[in-house]
Amino acid sequence: MGLLSTSLAGVELANPVILAAGTCGYGPEVSDFMDPRGIGAVTTKSITPESREGHPPWRVIDVPGGMMNAIGLANVGLERFLAEKVSAIASLRTVAIGSIAGHSVADYVAVARAFDEVAALPIVELNVSCPNTADGRQFGHDPQALRTVLREVRAVLGRTRLVVKMAPDAPDPIAIAAAAVEAGADGLTIANTYPAMSIDVDSRKPRLSAGRGGLSGPAVHPLAVRLVFAIHRAVAGPAKVPIIGLGGVLHWRDAAEFILAGATAVGVGTALFVDPRIPARVVRGLERWTAAQGAGNIGELVGRVEA
Ligand SMILES: Cc1cc2nc3c(=O)[nH]c(=O)nc-3n(C[C@H](O)[C@H](O)[C@H](O)COP(=O)(O)O)c2cc1C
Repeated sequence: MGLLSTSLAGVELANPVILAAGTCGYGPEVSDFMDPRGIGAVTTKSITPESREGHPPWRVIDVPGGMMNAIGLANVGLERFLAEKVSAIASLRTVAIGSIAGHSVADYVAVARAFDEVAALPIVELNVSCPNTADGRQFGHDPQALRTVLREVRAVLGRTRLVVKMAPDAPDPIAIAAAAVEAGADGLTIANTYPAMSIDVDSRKPRLSAGRGGLSGPAVHPLAVRLVFAIHRAVAGPAKVPIIGLGGVLHWRDAAEFILAGATAVGVGTALFVDPRIPARVVRGLERWTAAQGAGNIGELVGRVEA
């Protein structure tokens, strides 16, 4: 077993570094700028039953400490995703995670049922936390609504592992995590972007066409570390459910913090817009760190912060 080899909910990854949903297209695009064998997994952008245009420009902007987006879940829809994207995903030489979004329980179930037939997607990630759509988000804020959608999705998944992507601004994140685990989640991704706003003071208009958006990048990193730590201590650790720590990883040290806080794997999103070589650098840094810490495998360092 290599220093970084990781089992995520029973799926073997070469290392714990995962490219985040919506930041690397449908997945196969990563081959244009990196060797996919160097990363643990890629996540597709969130797929909905129907195609979506998303919001008009501007939908991605720079802000101090990161970026904001209000893409509005633009995607080709389930049918075209299956017809046009899946074969390239199947030949991608790393693990692929299928991200699912929707407006209703029926939407999530429809995409989950179809993804369960796709052998190239051993894991699905339920995006119940996109800040850029009017609905869908209620599932990430209300434990009862989350239990309902998870039970229905679970029922149509045979072999596929189910990860829930949490909202960072849920009123009670511990209750959400507990509901997800109780309803059968095999893993938790912590977290999506943080609801935010940026204003052009000359025009006095919001800078994003949607008015508001989601903040990502270094500004959110310590917030996400705290959330991973709290949920690992209270829920995920005792239940032995793995966490994907996500938010503001630009350097291997950021990823190592997530591991110590309790994450089994680490997502990288905004960093790809800064420099697509960052994920490979994070992998190399984690490898050196694991060895320097005297661990035989990075898994030995999960949740080992002395706090
Ligand atoms: C341009 C952009 C598009 C995104 N699209 C999605 C998406 O389709 N589905 C999803 O679950 N998260 C989406 N996200 C959120 C990321 O997956 C991630 O949760 C967030 O950006 C925090 O990680 P980071 O700071 O490393 O970027 C998107 C983020 C960005 C920046």
